[in-house]
Amino acid sequence: MRCSPKLLLLPVVILLACIEGLAQGPIYHMGRPPKAEEMRALDVCIGPEGQGLPAGSGNATQGAPIYMQKCAICHGLNGEGGVGPKLVGGIGTLADAQPVKTIGSFWPNAPSIWDFINRAMPQTQPGSLAPDEVYAVLAFLLTRNGVIKESDVLDATTLPKVKMPNRDGFVPAKPMYPEPAQYSGGCGSHACTKEGR
Ligand code: HEC
Repeated sequence: MRCSPKLLLLPVVILLACIEGLAQGPIYHMGRPPKAEEMRALDVCIGPEGQGLPAGSGNATQGAPIYMQKCAICHGLNGEGGVGPKLVGGIGTLADAQPVKTIGSFWPNAPSIWDFINRAMPQTQPGSLAPDEVYAVLAFLLTRNGVIKESDVLDATTLPKVKMPNRDGFVPAKPMYPEPAQYSGGCGSHACTKEGR
C-alpha cells in the first residue's frame, strides 16, 4: 500500500505541536504566563460601534504633546509619515489612481482606530498608553484630519458618534437580503430595491 507524503507528515506535525505545548509548561522551564499588565491591552474587545470602550476622555490639546513625544518620531511631526504610515490626509483620494489611505481617508469607524492604537501603538511599547491618552491622541489625529473640531472631547459616548469620511465606503459585513415577502414578488427583477441586491 502506498502512503501519501501528506499522511506521513501528520504525525510529525502533531508531535511538534505537543513539543511546543510542553516547552511553555513547567517541565522545560521555558516561557512564562503573561503578566497582568501585558494582558491589559490585549484583553479588550472593542466593537466598531464602540462596544467595550473604557471610561476616560481626551481632546486634541491634551493629545498634541503625547503625539509629539510618542508618535511623531515614526509618523512625522504632522502625521505625514516616516518609518510608520501617513496618518493625516488623503481624504477624497480613494477613487484616484493612487489613493492615499490614512486613518482619516480610509478607516470607516473611529472606535476601531482607538482599539488599534490602544493595542498596538507606540510600536515599541504596545499597550502602554492609558485610556485617557488614547482618547487624547486620537482626538489630536482626528482634528488634524479635519474630522472633528479642536474643542471636541472624545469619550465612550462621543467617539462612536464620530462620522468617519469613509464610513459608507465598505460593503456590509453581513450580506443584506430582501425580506422573505419580497422573494414572492419576483426577486432579481426591479421589485428588489433593498441595498445589497
Ligand atoms: C517605532 C515606530 C512607531 C511609533 C513610535 C508609533 N508608531 Fe504607529 N505605526 C508604526 C508602523 C510601522 C505602523 C504600520 C504597521 C502596523 O500597522 O503595525 C504603524 C501604524 C499605526 C496606525 C495605523 C495606520 C493605518 O492607516 O493602518 C496608527 C493609527 C498608528 N500607528 C498610530 C500611532 C500612534 C497614535 C502612536 C503614538 C502613541 C504611534 N503610532 C507610534 C510605527 C510606529
